[in-house]
Amino acid sequence: MSVARPSEALLALVHEAQATGTLTGLPDKHLIAGVAQASASGARMETFDAGTGRAFAAFAAGGPEDVDRAVTVAQAALRGPWRDTTPAQRGRILHRVAQLIRSNADRLAVVECLDSGKRLVEAQGDVAGAAGCFEYYAGACDKHEGSSIPLGPDYLAYTLNEPVGVTAHIIPWNYPLSTAARGIAPALAAGCTVVAKPAEQTPLTALMLAEICLQAGLPAGVCNVVTGTGADAGAALVRHPGIHHISFTGSVTTGIHVMQAAAPNITRLVLELGGKSPVVVLADCDMQAAVESVLGAIFENAGQICSAGSRLLVARSIHGEFVQRVADRARALTLGHGLRNPGMGPVSSEAHLRKITGYVERARQRGAEVVCGGRAATDPQTGQGWFFAPTLLDGLQPTDEAVQEEIFGPVLCVQVFDDLDEALALANGTRFALVAGVFTRDFGAAHRLARDIDAGQVYINEYFAGGISVPFGGNRQSGFGREKGLEALRSYSRTKSVAALIT
Ligand code: NAI
Ligand code: MG
Repeated sequence: MSVARPSEALLALVHEAQATGTLTGLPDKHLIAGVAQASASGARMETFDAGTGRAFAAFAAGGPEDVDRAVTVAQAALRGPWRDTTPAQRGRILHRVAQLIRSNADRLAVVECLDSGKRLVEAQGDVAGAAGCFEYYAGACDKHEGSSIPLGPDYLAYTLNEPVGVTAHIIPWNYPLSTAARGIAPALAAGCTVVAKPAEQTPLTALMLAEICLQAGLPAGVCNVVTGTGADAGAALVRHPGIHHISFTGSVTTGIHVMQAAAPNITRLVLELGGKSPVVVLADCDMQAAVESVLGAIFENAGQICSAGSRLLVARSIHGEFVQRVADRARALTLGHGLRNPGMGPVSSEAHLRKITGYVERARQRGAEVVCGGRAATDPQTGQGWFFAPTLLDGLQPTDEAVQEEIFGPVLCVQVFDDLDEALALANGTRFALVAGVFTRDFGAAHRLARDIDAGQVYINEYFAGGISVPFGGNRQSGFGREKGLEALRSYSRTKSVAALIT
């Protein structure tokens, strides 16, 4: 991605972060009813800079009391002035949110970089994407139409799109701002109110986004953020009877807990869970373009992407050359603190680094060929931080744990196929079905695979193609429901049908 020359303001923030290890003026409390509030218990916890492995800020550790306060406020806000705001007025507010995200882009990006570990350039991309997301739904607010149903001359029948009500957003640590934006923007566009719970590893940018929403004119209490752990704050939020809709992005295990917690209240939900997405590379592809796409698919954000292309399915005739080219490029990726924009940044936490290392070590013990990488590392400049070298594993059985489980790190597993049927069987051969990539010049083969691969979205000849306007979500254990696009707007709406006898 090309980036503009860094502004003075950005350089000053980067310098402050590098010199002091933190930034001044970071949010450190819940944002409830438009006011920064400490936890009822007074408890606090720390967030870490993954690039150094050091705590750099503290924030409120919320629990059931804080969640209850936020949900009560969001319920009241649903009955307040927000209800009487016209869709066009909502659109104008969302537009101002987009503008304010842009005018605060440098600060948001540097905070996201510190908190999540991601490279600054990726954080800048996420910030731009968050602004684009608010803009997209700003434009959609007054175009979210119902329908009229022809019952004949004696009846009038039509549908209304009502906001579902108070929406809960459980946000993961890999895309803290992006995931917050992609849930909050359509929820607000639909007229809902929000209680968001960012991941405890990355609480800061969701708080900043909620502050921006207030500055943009969103009435206090419409968008609230409670920070804290999943066990204390997250679990209290998803089981709260005052919540009408849950949007959860995270692990399958936690997704199961969330679904169980939602059941007694019949709370509707969208689950965006893990993936083990295949990138199918046919022998006739544009090899250079495919290599670059495969690299981005697994090493962007150090592989911590639900839709990462973590399995390379390559035609046997090009297997040797293709793997070699990917490995050469992977070896050349420099590691370093995200603020320095290295080839690849750290992974999010020490615990997560241990998990990735465990997967790779076990694969090695089972006889996997470690083509490159395969080890934990530190920032070569400081000897600090939680890094894992870009890794390719080859020679694995389709049933191997490393092929079947979501590692969520910079680890690409290679699988070889002889024909399209075998490619398809391998592609569909895990419990996940989130996304898939296909690289070929054969239009028919591409669309046959797109039809037959079980996935929520298929990218042809460009991994991660699309954007905010393209629906996104998974099948099977990757979850259900769709984020993004107009589908997300529908998922924060409920249909009311009105049928009248008019004679
Ligand atoms: P997680 O699913 O436990 O955490 C995601 C979010 O859920 C966080 O905000 C967390 O605080 C919250 N949470 C945790 N327990 C909860 C509960 N009982 N009720 C409500 N909310 C709860 O994921 P974790 O432990 O951070 O990462 C484990 C693995 O999950 C990763 O290695 C990766 O494989 C996967 N993951 C997938 C993501 C995706 O984009 N689909 C994002 C993050 C993690
Ligand atoms: Mg952090």
